[in-house]
Amino acid sequence: MRVDILTLFPEIALAPLSESMMKRAQNAGLVEVAAHDLRDWATGKHRKTDDYLCGGGQGMLMKPEPIFAAIEELRTPDSRVILLTPQGQVFKQAMARELSNESHIIFLCGHYEGVDQRVIDELVDLELSIGDYVLTNGAIAAAVVTDAIVRLLPGALGDARSAVEESFSDPNLLEAPAYTKPIEFRGLKVPEILLSGHHAKIEKWRKERAIKRTRDNRPDLLGG
Ligand code: ADE
Repeated sequence: MRVDILTLFPEIALAPLSESMMKRAQNAGLVEVAAHDLRDWATGKHRKTDDYLCGGGQGMLMKPEPIFAAIEELRTPDSRVILLTPQGQVFKQAMARELSNESHIIFLCGHYEGVDQRVIDELVDLELSIGDYVLTNGAIAAAVVTDAIVRLLPGALGDARSAVEESFSDPNLLEAPAYTKPIEFRGLKVPEILLSGHHAKIEKWRKERAIKRTRDNRPDLLGG
């Protein structure tokens, strides 16, 4: 897989992808990640990438010309062009799985008040938001989405089972609480059942606790 991130802040996008598992996935050749400074495609003395809103209004908008030039240079017939924006559909694990099958993703990172609509109409295949809040720029969101996709590539996780058993594999249930050693810490004990060796009872306990946690933290997943 290849990921190209088009942004005014390449360092912001790359920093979280340069450590730990993301670094290993790149070193192992599972994914090639590059971040590009949109200013490299801007022309004129000031290499302007933004301008005022037509029709008036607060803030600045990303201009179409550098974005068209950059994407026309970077894309191939197999590329999926994704705009990161709070106006997009909310990114979920199912979408991470779908995107992990792509061979080339180009992330276009929004900034200021967003991008000129002609970019979306002509170049963008999918608009994604990472949640119902507004970040200073889409480069942070591009790193988040890239991480979620790359860890699903075969060979990226040390233990392949962890991708299957974690939260959101069953999209309606969070994971059960988990404990490790020591068995007693500051008088706080690991639940007895987890030390019983009784696998059926442990599974039943985990399911009950997963349901309780979901009810407490994410009642929306249970439909209420
Ligand atoms: N840019 C600013 N906020 C964002 C969000 N929530 N998701 C994706 N891109 C963004």
